[in-house]
Amino acid sequence: MKRVREDSLDQKAPPEEAANSKVPQHIAIIMDGNGRWAQARGKKRVFGHKAGMERAREMAEVCGELGVKYLTLFAFSSENWNRPKDEVSFLMELFATSLKNESKKLHKNNVKLMVIGDKDGFDRRLRKAIEKAEALTQDNDGLYLQIAANYGGRWDIVQAAQALAEQGAEITEESLQSKLVTADGVDPDLLIRTGGEQRISNFLMWQAAYAELYFSDALWPDFDGKALKAAIEDFNRRQRRFGKTGEQVATASD
Ligand code: FPP
Repeated sequence: MKRVREDSLDQKAPPEEAANSKVPQHIAIIMDGNGRWAQARGKKRVFGHKAGMERAREMAEVCGELGVKYLTLFAFSSENWNRPKDEVSFLMELFATSLKNESKKLHKNNVKLMVIGDKDGFDRRLRKAIEKAEALTQDNDGLYLQIAANYGGRWDIVQAAQALAEQGAEITEESLQSKLVTADGVDPDLLIRTGGEQRISNFLMWQAAYAELYFSDALWPDFDGKALKAAIEDFNRRQRRFGKTGEQVATASD
């Protein structure tokens, strides 16, 4: 049975922009700039991660309101283990506590939470917290919130290729796609990176093949709902051609 979403997310009228424009089905975000945001305030980097967590929560709420189907957040890359030990432990702790504190609310808001990445890299406690949050929300069909943690795009492609090799299966675009950690989802339409850098940093390497890229100079803890809506408006001004000519696309959408 479809859950009736009863709290604040849904009672607000849809924003005007949503009515007049296309909402991307899948938004993926590289949340960069937490450390610099904290340092600019004379605080430790981890203070920025805490503020970044609040923004992540806000993004999920805004995406739910706008009717975005998938939101994928890059929370921790395969390469982030190389950060100072204290910062890594803080991020793991923040992840575990957030899963515990937020999963009931996510469930209430009909959000399906999925952690994508190499979960074997996490300690038992975090793995348990992930399993619990995923199990609680698995039947929800509102926003699909994918948290990329211990994730790397190359790792994802390699693990998919290994799975096919183990089965002795033929390697085609379709078969490889079906083994990616995002196999059940759709490719991102819009990939946002905050923090002023303009690179993909080994995020959804396969899946983002045709994503529109949007770079914001805002540091992640400053990237609010208004900034997200500006990114969506920018997305709407673009013509997605998927390898076709502009004329072909224009004729098809007439
Ligand atoms: C990049 O900023 C941010 C990260 C590596 C961690 C992102 C984590 C969060 C936003 C909090 C956890 C969120 C969830 C959803 C569990 P940076 O540290 O590289 O910043 P800098 O470039 O200014 O140093």
